[in-house]
Amino acid sequence: MIFLTNVCRKGILPLVAGLFLASITAAQAQDAVAAAPQEPSFMELPFVLHLTIALSGIIIMLIIAVLIMLFRVFVPMLGDSIYEEGFRNSFAGRVLFLIRGDATVMTGKAKDHIHSDHDFDGIQEYDNDLPPWWKMMFYVSIVFAVGYMLHFHVFNTGLLQAQEYEMEMEQAAILAAKNADDPNAVTNYEVLTDAAALESGKSLFMMNCAACHGQEGQGTVGPNLTDEYWLHGGDVNNIFKTVKFGVPAKGMVPWQGKLTKDQMLEVSSYILSLQGSNPANAKEPQGEKM
Ligand code: HEC
Repeated sequence: MIFLTNVCRKGILPLVAGLFLASITAAQAQDAVAAAPQEPSFMELPFVLHLTIALSGIIIMLIIAVLIMLFRVFVPMLGDSIYEEGFRNSFAGRVLFLIRGDATVMTGKAKDHIHSDHDFDGIQEYDNDLPPWWKMMFYVSIVFAVGYMLHFHVFNTGLLQAQEYEMEMEQAAILAAKNADDPNAVTNYEVLTDAAALESGKSLFMMNCAACHGQEGQGTVGPNLTDEYWLHGGDVNNIFKTVKFGVPAKGMVPWQGKLTKDQMLEVSSYILSLQGSNPANAKEPQGEKM
């Protein structure tokens, strides 16, 4: 029995240590790859990284599968010997019993023997173990605290909350600046429906757009804007985008810089208010029905 315990102890610890070392070496190998001077390489680095991660995953799954198979084959062969107290209390024994679903390995056993010193007004105290799961979390939290302290406050390798906030605000500012002129930026304007906005949209349309789209939006050079067919989308945000950036290759003027954002939204909303107005001499539909 002691022999079995020792074999298990000596077998599992080196295995765990070996896996740990292997993972560290793999990580260092990756760092070495990343640090190597960038030569034009056949395989892109991200691909190599992904491949390494995928292979490690597969190898770990294989190891687990083999361990489970060994477990299922060998545990029945041990027979009753695993119930001996010495094995049950060894590291290997506790892992084994935990895998077999013995919760007392984690919760501790109630000893139910009364500590005679502690007796107050007839209330007596049991001398039970601290639950092992609790003790383990306690130790883990100590290790974590040391690592945390070193990472954030000694080596300063991690960003503190305030620094993280600063950095994200900087990135957001860069992104926002880019989006101002990005045709692919998503807007979420609501179509304007109040009379004043539509009136302003109408006069903007008469002044700037009627020459190509007709006095009633029926279409001349440019397409009919009163039907349900659209070349570039008939939602107010799509129309806003067409108006703002234009379709220079097809003769539709970009209006950014000539009209303000509010004016472009007003004229876009006015166009949508013309939907279904069926003007005379309407140009034939172009684009897709929305
Ligand atoms: C110089 C002529 C011209 C002017 C001025 C003009 N457009 Fe256009 N517009 C066009 C042409 C041509 C197209 C078709 C583009 C295409 O084929 O992709 C178009 C397309 C559009 C579309 C897209 C229609 C669809 O089916 O998706 C909208 C919306 C639009 N114009 C709104 C306006 C507004 C609003 C104004 C005034 C602020 C305006 N246009 C001024 C020529 C013009």
